[in-house]
Amino acid sequence: MREVLEQLEEKRREAHLGGGQRRIDAQHAKGKLTARERLDVLLDAGSFEEYDMYKAHRCADFGMQEQQIAGDGVVTGWGTINGRPTYVFSQDFTVFGGSLSETHAEKICKVMDLAMQNGVPLIGLNDSGGARIQEGVASLGGYAEVFWRNVQASGVIPQISVIMGPCAGGAVYSPAMTDFIFMVKDTSYMFVTGPDVVKTVTNEIVTAEELGGASTHTKKSSVADGAFENDVEALLEVRRMFDFLPLSNREKPPVRQTPDAPDRIEKSLDTLVPDNPNQPYDMHEVIVKIADEGEFLEIQRDFAGNILCGFIRLNGSTVGVVANQPMVLAGCLDIDSAKKAGRFVRYCDAFNIPILTLVDVPGFLPGTAQEYGGIIKNGAKLLFAYAQATVPMVTVITRKAYGGAYDVMASKHIRADVNYAWPTAEIAVMGAKGATEILYRSELGDPEKIARRTKDYEDRFANPFVAAQRGFIDEVILPHSTRRRIGRAFELLKSKQVEGPAKKHDNIPL
Ligand code: HXC
Repeated sequence: MREVLEQLEEKRREAHLGGGQRRIDAQHAKGKLTARERLDVLLDAGSFEEYDMYKAHRCADFGMQEQQIAGDGVVTGWGTINGRPTYVFSQDFTVFGGSLSETHAEKICKVMDLAMQNGVPLIGLNDSGGARIQEGVASLGGYAEVFWRNVQASGVIPQISVIMGPCAGGAVYSPAMTDFIFMVKDTSYMFVTGPDVVKTVTNEIVTAEELGGASTHTKKSSVADGAFENDVEALLEVRRMFDFLPLSNREKPPVRQTPDAPDRIEKSLDTLVPDNPNQPYDMHEVIVKIADEGEFLEIQRDFAGNILCGFIRLNGSTVGVVANQPMVLAGCLDIDSAKKAGRFVRYCDAFNIPILTLVDVPGFLPGTAQEYGGIIKNGAKLLFAYAQATVPMVTVITRKAYGGAYDVMASKHIRADVNYAWPTAEIAVMGAKGATEILYRSELGDPEKIARRTKDYEDRFANPFVAAQRGFIDEVILPHSTRRRIGRAFELLKSKQVEGPAKKHDNIPL
């Protein structure tokens, strides 16, 4: 018996070495952790249960039968994060560059199937040279099996991808179909074709980092949701995000006890909005002052800064926040912000996460760049996402809510449940100056007259009461009581139930 136990220990030791000490050292020299070290950071200590540690490839071409490495380049199984379970896979770059063989794909598919069956999230740590070149089409088939499962799992279990090394070619499409992508700065990249192919086809000379590094994908393309300094920072952020999410769409989001009083007053919010309507203020301040313990986990912080998206907790429960940011483009809606927020609203709705919308929006951004880029169809994404959402929705208009953007930003008309306004709110078709210049064009030569007309328009419409008279606003609230008011609203909405009409699926303007 003793001998058998020793043999097992030896087999485990061997499997843990992956591609060998030399390659582990090379991985460390690049500033990267190994596949197993990453799981140690991601999961609670001692919680990881590994599956298929001894699984090996079946390839007999190119001398591969002589190169059998236990585990075949990916570590799979499950563990817990702060006591809640998650399935995981972690690609091992020390084994054939983490490349995906048919059996490597089978291991990933096994945990995906279990995750779906058991209603538990899946976290994938990607570090791979792509399709296992020696296996050809068998590897491509393996990728497609993973892709198909990503789609089946979408909206059923949270799927989070962390890119911690190369991720190229068609391999990028698995992370792309998951809910959130985090990248590590300087050591990870994602692209469909690498710098060499780009040079051949388009004559552009570009580095891998410029083409598909963390900075590119969080600032330019918006493919990724966050960029982090190193492996540890990225993995700790995944742990932080995981705590906000439900395990599946069958559950409500988790509740965390908080010492923060639900009726905490924030006097500073009473003076946050400047008297001059053209002067910006930082909407982050509103969010952190409302949130439990001031915690805001922001998604896509470096992209489309004119809208803020992320998670907070109110009375311990997760709430998704969408907020116009007057500091960037005056908070206008444009193509990028509509796409960013539209996707976030759909995520929240799929996973039973209530949505808080903070509104200060002067309208849609004008211009040929926007029109040619399809602001109509892209703006419609956000409108569609809100109108489709059935989770509890509370909206607070802090200042401007003009034109179509008023309708889009979770207005009562597209079925937000509770709509509040601060006394500083201005709900109108457009700003007073623009309105006057259209209505009284013939008087434009007389600045005094125009100033009077503008003042009249402001007095009439630059307030929340016209909308409140119609019931479009449920109540004009004092800014300092915002946390208490929205917290109470969400508590009551916990039992909200809405059924949409039967259909196969909608046709969101993609
Ligand atoms: C088999 C691979 C491999 C692969 C790397 N290796 N990629 N083995 N299949 N795809 C092996 C190397 O032979 C090497 O083995 C080890 O992994 C480390 O690779 P290095 O090149 O030494 O590392 P590095 O210099 O860091 O370069 C990493 C790399 C490079 C940029 C990823 O290896 C590379 O370009 N690989 C090929 C990438 C590629 O073209 N993949 C196919 C893409 S098409 P030893 O034994 O020396 O340690 C694709 C389609 C997916 O993926 C389609 C889905 C639909």
